[in-house]
Amino acid sequence: MALVTTKEMFQKAYDGGYAIGAFNVNNMEIVQGITEAAGELKSPVILQVSKGARAYANHTYLVKLVEAAVAENNIPIALHLDHGPDFETCKSCIDGGFTSVMIDASHYDFEKNIEITKQVVEYAHERGVVVEAELGKLAGVEDDVKVAADDAMYTQPDEVQEFVERTGVDSLAIAIGTSHGAFKFKPGQKPQLRFDILDEITKRIPQFPIVLHGASSVSQEYVQIIQKNGGNLADAIGIPEDMLRQAARSAVCKINIDSDLRLAMTAGVREVLYNNPAAFDPREYLKVGRSYVKELVKHKITDVLGSEQKA
Ligand code: G3H
Ligand code: 13P
Ligand code: ZN
Repeated sequence: MALVTTKEMFQKAYDGGYAIGAFNVNNMEIVQGITEAAGELKSPVILQVSKGARAYANHTYLVKLVEAAVAENNIPIALHLDHGPDFETCKSCIDGGFTSVMIDASHYDFEKNIEITKQVVEYAHERGVVVEAELGKLAGVEDDVKVAADDAMYTQPDEVQEFVERTGVDSLAIAIGTSHGAFKFKPGQKPQLRFDILDEITKRIPQFPIVLHGASSVSQEYVQIIQKNGGNLADAIGIPEDMLRQAARSAVCKINIDSDLRLAMTAGVREVLYNNPAAFDPREYLKVGRSYVKELVKHKITDVLGSEQKA
């Protein structure tokens, strides 16, 4: 099976009331952990690459790693640019083998966001690549953009129909209370997502695939392992999985997960190094990190996303 776009994945996910996991990849072990899990569970999957990942691992290495995963696992895999900051970055990924790109011009005003998104859509569609855009602002940190919680803005339902029609975009990331990173709520704060806003958006653009960023649940299981093995991630709080299950059953077709992968990998590596101070073969600790990533992705697919056996 070759790399695919997200078009058919989203259509089936929308109709079937489940979501596709979009997992961030930065190295071989992460690619392997995710795709072995998805392969064994016969689940479609999106592997996404940020600007930071391209700077860290190099575009060509990442594409080749993903191509290897496609050859090794008989499931639909899409390769997606996460938070493309500008037309040039999107163009470079479209020309360089990606099947999907996100243009994130959400920090500009409405008209400028439309203008930039439209330019990417035109270039991408002529080449068979699909495009995700964002309306509204999430709190947290993405590559160069840091949005304070107070400045985060929910997506305005009244804007979505015009945005989708004028840009021709294929999916839309919205802000309903999720945020990037491992510290999504203050200690004592009740986690909340604005499902009422999601409902209003769905009424305005029925049958249109919605994307949820900042959707890691920050499992206490991994936080505890990190704490026990010399790390400090006290007060890390994510989105409760019940809320993610509810989102997956709705118009949300793509759920973005990065921080949870980082926690799983770090828990595995810390566990080995803390308990075996003499360990110095990278394979020894990276393989445990990889197996924790795999276990996490299996859990997400079966218990949260509902995409098992949908390949
Ligand atoms: O939304 C951001 C993703 O978690 C990617 O993070 O920019 O540090 O690679 P990164
Ligand atoms: P998390 O930080 O919640 O994993 O979000 C990842 C994300 O949205 C990538 O675009
Ligand atoms: Zn994101």
